[in-house]
Amino acid sequence: MIDTFDINAAGFDGPVIVTGAGGCIGSWVLKILLAHRIPVTALDLKKDVRRPKLLMSEDQVESIPWIEGDISVPDTILNAVESSRATAIIHLAALQVPFCKNDPILGAQVNVVGTVNVFEAARKFGIKRLCYASSIAAHGVFDENTVPTLYGAYKFCNEETAKVYARDWGVASTGMRPGVVYGVGRDQGMTSKTTIAILAAALREKYTIPFRGDVSWLHAGEVASAFIRSVSAPRSEAKVFDINGSTLSVEDSISIIKKISGHEGISPSGTPLPFPMALSDTPLIDYLGSYGSVEIEKGIKHTYDSFLSLIGTGQLDASSLG
Ligand SMILES: NC(=O)c1ccc[n+]([C@@H]2O[C@H](COP(=O)([O-])OP(=O)(O)OC[C@H]3O[C@@H](n4cnc5c(N)ncnc54)[C@H](O)[C@@H]3O)[C@@H](O)[C@H]2O)c1
Repeated sequence: MIDTFDINAAGFDGPVIVTGAGGCIGSWVLKILLAHRIPVTALDLKKDVRRPKLLMSEDQVESIPWIEGDISVPDTILNAVESSRATAIIHLAALQVPFCKNDPILGAQVNVVGTVNVFEAARKFGIKRLCYASSIAAHGVFDENTVPTLYGAYKFCNEETAKVYARDWGVASTGMRPGVVYGVGRDQGMTSKTTIAILAAALREKYTIPFRGDVSWLHAGEVASAFIRSVSAPRSEAKVFDINGSTLSVEDSISIIKKISGHEGISPSGTPLPFPMALSDTPLIDYLGSYGSVEIEKGIKHTYDSFLSLIGTGQLDASSLG
């Protein structure tokens, strides 16, 4: 799987700092950077290495310097960039849709103020390699077919912030709007249920995906690879791209899960997700070059096989179904 991701390690001129490193995408970013021997420092609220350990050996995880800190506090990222001597930032730390809805003020502190803190650090240290995760939910601000959410509003605000930092202070950045990310480590957020369904099949449990219709299938390694590639060279503009991966209906993806696992206990329910699910990756690929794409059946099979082995080692069980 790791060979799929095309990274130019020689393009890096120093360590990379990854915020939200203990999350799903962050864990894949750590794994891919490590595999390419690119120096990395992890930053997250706590050193919770549960997800990284699903992807890497204990020794590999322990080899990564880890900084505990709250991204909504300005000194966290300032001190982290200074102490790690990072020349690139991959900013992933955020609260997802339900968490922003449950606590809008905390959501804004983490997702909006946290991102301003990252841009301030980039400005102070002259970082020319900065990328950040926006979301398809940002479409809710300007696309009337997409349901507006606070999470999407905060992500769109970050995109506007990025433009102003580029214009006023020359801080360049690459923003990406991932669709529905799946793969090992995806265990929270409203769109995590397609991955949970693969886990349920591996556990031989019944599971209902609470939506139907078309879904973006974006492998976590694929989006991680795109983030890494975006900071493998200095940038001079603020750009924002969609990143969707494949598009397949929940119903058809359940057929793939059944074919791979032989398990019949997965079913769909409800209505389609209110987000665009078939956005083009071509503008991003044209900008970055190929970062490696994971064909959907191969990605589901790899995820299923990984879950089987993690169940075997006791790292995952029925309590992981949520
Ligand atoms: N997973 C998806 O389908 C998806 C889709 C669109 C956008 N995104 C965005 O991509 C990024 C990564 O997503 P993910 O799936 O890995 O999310 P995740 O929820 O698995 O991980 C987010 C990480 O951020 C950390 N974090 C939260 N608050 C923090 C704080 N105050 N300070 C420091 N760290 C903090 C969490 O501890 C967690 O480890 C996020 O910005 C998310 O909004 C994800």
